[in-house]
Amino acid sequence: MTPVSEPALHPSRRVTNSWVALPSWLPVPGLGTLPVNAFLLKGSEPMLVDTGLGALSDAMALRLAEEIDLADLRWIWLSHTDADHIGNLDRILALAPNATVVTNFLGAGKMGMLGAGNPARMRLLAPGEIFEAGGRRLHQVRPPYYDAPETMGFFDETDRVLFAADAFGALLPGSAETIGEIPSGTLREGLVAWSGVDAPWLAQMDRGTLGGMLRALDALDPAHVLSGHLPVAHGIGTLTDILRNAYGRGTSASVTAETADQVAAILA
Ligand SMILES: [Fe+2]
Ligand SMILES: [Fe+2]
Repeated sequence: MTPVSEPALHPSRRVTNSWVALPSWLPVPGLGTLPVNAFLLKGSEPMLVDTGLGALSDAMALRLAEEIDLADLRWIWLSHTDADHIGNLDRILALAPNATVVTNFLGAGKMGMLGAGNPARMRLLAPGEIFEAGGRRLHQVRPPYYDAPETMGFFDETDRVLFAADAFGALLPGSAETIGEIPSGTLREGLVAWSGVDAPWLAQMDRGTLGGMLRALDALDPAHVLSGHLPVAHGIGTLTDILRNAYGRGTSASVTAETADQVAAILA
């Protein structure tokens, strides 16, 4: 793993014939490094999933233009309205005149208060509505934990890809091109640390309830897990096992109120 001293966009990585990961890395002083990913679905109706860090706006715009003709970009799926997910939204909307934002009622409302996006270019999904992009069906999935109530993940039934938004993210000692480069103990500690920062209420969650949600994801059996904050994972069992063992037994000692404050300051 490679230490990261400043935000950096890394080379794109192909996940399937249709899905491409656009990874970047954000140093978090005192805590390590947080992956911040966007994803691109190629095909007859290209769709960008989240828009990356505003600090990397130029690099992101260039990278997107390398991957597709921005005039062809049809959809921008927003997981939620945090700055690390909508950081380049307005710039990309300007560069991609045929793109429509996919969000929900609360996401649209929060963007309105932020002055981000354009209500005339939003497609609001109803709860549970299946979204089709280029004939590909994306089923909304509420991740097992999240930090904003508008959060929308999805499951692509064609490629068996699960997009989990902030869930399954990890604070890591440095960057890694693949999840296989991360030692198992480092992955476990990083995942527990990030989940405690992003969703501290997990520590109070009933173990049976969390277990049921994790079993449902295991049963979904995604071939690939796209998290906004982890290199692409292939299969979900390792990730759900970490959470199952970490919660319902008291809060992790690695996460303190001070940790949460540090991360909040970085992302503000
Ligand atoms: Fe978030
Ligand atoms: Fe995030």
